[in-house]
Amino acid sequence: EKGGHRHFMAKEIHEQPQTLKDVLELYIEGDRIVPPAEVDFAALSRLTIVACGTAHIAGTVAKYWFERIARLPVECDIASEYRYRDPVIDPAGAVMLISQSGETADTLAAMRHAAGEAASILSVVNVPTSSIARESDVAFPIAAGVEVGVASTKAFMNQLAVLLCLAILAGRQRGTLDAEREAELVSELRRLPGLVSQALAIESRCADLASWLAEASDILFLGRGPMFPLAHEGALKLKEISYIHAEAYASGELKHGPIALVDRSLPVVVFAPSDALFDKTVSNVQEVMAREGQVLLVTDAEGAAAGGQGCRDILTMPDCDPMVTPLLYAVPAQLLAYHTAVHKGTDVDQPRNLAKSVTVE
Ligand code: M6R
Repeated sequence: EKGGHRHFMAKEIHEQPQTLKDVLELYIEGDRIVPPAEVDFAALSRLTIVACGTAHIAGTVAKYWFERIARLPVECDIASEYRYRDPVIDPAGAVMLISQSGETADTLAAMRHAAGEAASILSVVNVPTSSIARESDVAFPIAAGVEVGVASTKAFMNQLAVLLCLAILAGRQRGTLDAEREAELVSELRRLPGLVSQALAIESRCADLASWLAEASDILFLGRGPMFPLAHEGALKLKEISYIHAEAYASGELKHGPIALVDRSLPVVVFAPSDALFDKTVSNVQEVMAREGQVLLVTDAEGAAAGGQGCRDILTMPDCDPMVTPLLYAVPAQLLAYHTAVHKGTDVDQPRNLAKSVTVE
């Protein structure tokens, strides 16, 4: 049942090239995005994304995509905050729920709160028969298959894939993305299953790094732009299954507080593909190293050559268009947490105090 893997989480991490391929087939035709359900982003004034946990992190990545590609204003909220905050619901905006299970109590309640007030209720859900998929106006499948591990992996990957496809569609509908750039992004999406397979090759390096990470009592994750949510994903995965305290910060926030924590006992994991923000992140990395912080830089070959000096370790990822890096960098976020947990001997698939689906408040 675990396909030769020790844990469902490992099986699900390794399924990602295939599950990604499956979902892209649902959303891509030729060199265009053709989604399995109708939506008109041109008519919307804004998009409000509401979710919990890893699904919320996928939503915060989507904010970068929708704003950058489609110039559509996005806010992304935690469901338990949204439902009780008496939020201002824009009648010309859509509310989008993201949920693997489609049964998370707070996300479901948030959806019911917005229903009838927002222009439309969209959902991005893995379980097609779930309450959220059924009750939303338009449900977008993520086709990740059954996810058993409490720590979400392949569902996160496919949520990102669907959200990027929808942002591209929104760009076309809103006239902010031309056909040529759409075709370019679609061809990069088609390359992704192969890139994710390549990224999985860092697994043995992650297993080696686990003995170092497992000894830490705190780990800091840093990233800029869409890598900031990825830093959150790395920290959340690690907390969930290895029980090590981890915190994510936007790299630019470092000197506004968390740099006080830095000393030689603090591993600092930095997600920094060589994109437009790379140099800024490298200067943050140097600030950490100047205080003897031990940096694990996750980057590509160009980034490793340009900014790797003095780092304790580097994980080198395949090159890709900066727009698709969040999907690729999910792999090291998952593998570092997985191998640290295995090293510590925790119950990876059933971590203490957690349930796969949080159906009570
Ligand atoms: O089923 P959902 O996507 O609504 O679940 C939301 C969170 O409970 C979930 O993502 C949780 O944070 C995961 N265990 C993270 O790995």
